[in-house]
Amino acid sequence: MNIRLDKFLADMSVGTRTEVKKIIKAGRIQVNNKVVRDSSIKINTENDQVLFDNTPVLYIEYEYYMLNKPAGIITAVSDLKESTVLNLISSVRKDLFPVGRLDRDTVGLLLITNNGELAHRLLSPKKHVDKKYYVELDASLTQEMCQKLREGVSIEKNVITAPAKLEILDAPDCKRVVLTIQEGRFHQVKRMFLAVERKVVFLKRMEFGPLKLDENLKYGEYRRLNEKELKLLEEYIKDTDMEELCTRELCTREL
Ligand code: URA
Repeated sequence: MNIRLDKFLADMSVGTRTEVKKIIKAGRIQVNNKVVRDSSIKINTENDQVLFDNTPVLYIEYEYYMLNKPAGIITAVSDLKESTVLNLISSVRKDLFPVGRLDRDTVGLLLITNNGELAHRLLSPKKHVDKKYYVELDASLTQEMCQKLREGVSIEKNVITAPAKLEILDAPDCKRVVLTIQEGRFHQVKRMFLAVERKVVFLKRMEFGPLKLDENLKYGEYRRLNEKELKLLEEYIKDTDMEELCTRELCTREL
């Protein structure tokens, strides 16, 4: 990747964009063993060597955070009036964003990154990425309701949800369940239960694709994804790519 020297340094927390411009002017930056004073020169992040006061600065292209979203915070990059999930992350990166959306009152796993390609893949309906939610309801589910939820319910005109997994945690009470869906329609979980006349009173996302919420994270806390999770994500994306390819092939053959 080729990026401007000042962005390279600001992304790597050497300083704000204004500060790094001053640092560059002061001759404290070397690129491939030559002092440079022009902030706009392009750096090849893979091949160029950048030194700040003779110390190498390595470029990390993507950042990945797992946030345990608290209630009362909106899932947005910025908002004029309200605090957003990004206000909880202290990173100098300006290009971070949440992957997908949880409602203001929903808590739990939210992935935050600046990797647009990965986000696009995880959110694409074609990829069938599992989203697992812990749900508490205002009243018990009957067997019939459970069956409907598993098979698909109508949440709006001409929209029937795809088959879902439903696990009852507190039989015979049936008010605490785990629902796994592959779609991600607006307020989908709440609307699925409303379709069987039940109201969601607590909603927590436990899993997103291969990622599981780290139970050590309290509400509002976050951490970087670890190597194992990054590997899992990479493999998961490869698998879903393959699955999509096979489905496409099948569809073309059937036409
Ligand atoms: N479904 C909902 O209804 N709300 C969420 O926040 C996530 C999924």
